[in-house]
Amino acid sequence: MKNKTRKLLLAAGENIELAKKEVRAVAEDSSEGEKLILKNRLIISGSKISYPERLGLVHEISKQVEKIDEPENFRAEYTIDGRYAVEARILEGDRDPEKVETGIGEALSNRKNSVDLDNPDTVIKAYVLEDEIILGRLEQEIDRGKFNQRKNQNRPFSSPVSLDPKLARTLVNLSGVKPGERLLDPFCGTGGILIEAGLCGVGVAGTDIDQEMVKGCRKNLGEYGIINHDILQESAEKAPEALEEEIDAVVTDLPYGRSSKKTKDIVEKFMDSIEAYDCRKVIVWNKDTLDGRNPDFSIDVHSSLTRYIYIID
Ligand SMILES: C[S@@+](CC[C@H](N)C(=O)[O-])C[C@H]1O[C@@H](n2cnc3c(N)ncnc32)[C@H](O)[C@@H]1O
Repeated sequence: MKNKTRKLLLAAGENIELAKKEVRAVAEDSSEGEKLILKNRLIISGSKISYPERLGLVHEISKQVEKIDEPENFRAEYTIDGRYAVEARILEGDRDPEKVETGIGEALSNRKNSVDLDNPDTVIKAYVLEDEIILGRLEQEIDRGKFNQRKNQNRPFSSPVSLDPKLARTLVNLSGVKPGERLLDPFCGTGGILIEAGLCGVGVAGTDIDQEMVKGCRKNLGEYGIINHDILQESAEKAPEALEEEIDAVVTDLPYGRSSKKTKDIVEKFMDSIEAYDCRKVIVWNKDTLDGRNPDFSIDVHSSLTRYIYIID
């Protein structure tokens, strides 16, 4: 990676490879050529991140300022004016975070600044790895508590089938959909995926075979102020005919169904129908093959449920 501005993104511990894929999907240069470097939970990106606030699997984003080996040897080239705080995050090794903070804090001290842990103008994050400490100026913290407020049980209409909002958000991001574009969930259920897409400024469309789900989904979308939507009671494979407007991404969580014959039939018809869409499709299922494809990711939800993610271009 060339010596240029780098972003440091601290991934949530849940699924680091998936977080990296999510970051790539919202990086401005998302080509495979622009490598993201992963050091423990730290994703280092040479590309600008287009929608940092959208990320579902990242805690915080900083701009890299320096890289050092030992806090004791640190002679700051980077200068800070005003009030500042250093916050160490031990990702590897057994260094004492307080010592790291003090060592770096002292090296950064000059006549134009002062340490203020309660109300700093600048927060310097020190990501501590085995052989190096990477320093970044904090740009954005992602309020992950907001995802919890949108959990299934906190919405006006709920059903146990719904995905966790952080995963739903990650799926939306993996689709690469942009604000102002339109995303379809053909098995929309309570609207878990559509809520997350709508909150990213994306227009949403959905179908569900079950009238209760359709009503509940509309109610849930309304609760979060998502008014640009088109939700129909329809079988998923009919979505291309039923919804006339252009679709820029398909993201869905397939029925798990107890009757495997019936579910297989529904999924086969759906897979045929999405050939109508010339866009990325991100599909979650509880089976480890889909239409002859291997999954791109798997997530162990609990001992008897693994979710598989398929990304189809
Ligand atoms: C796993 S759930 C989707 C959950 C959804 N992501 C949510 O947040 O609530 C699958 C949904 O597919 C619906 N469904 C089942 N068969 C269908 C079909 N043939 N066409 C459309 N929807 C169908 C079910 O009613 C159910 O709501």
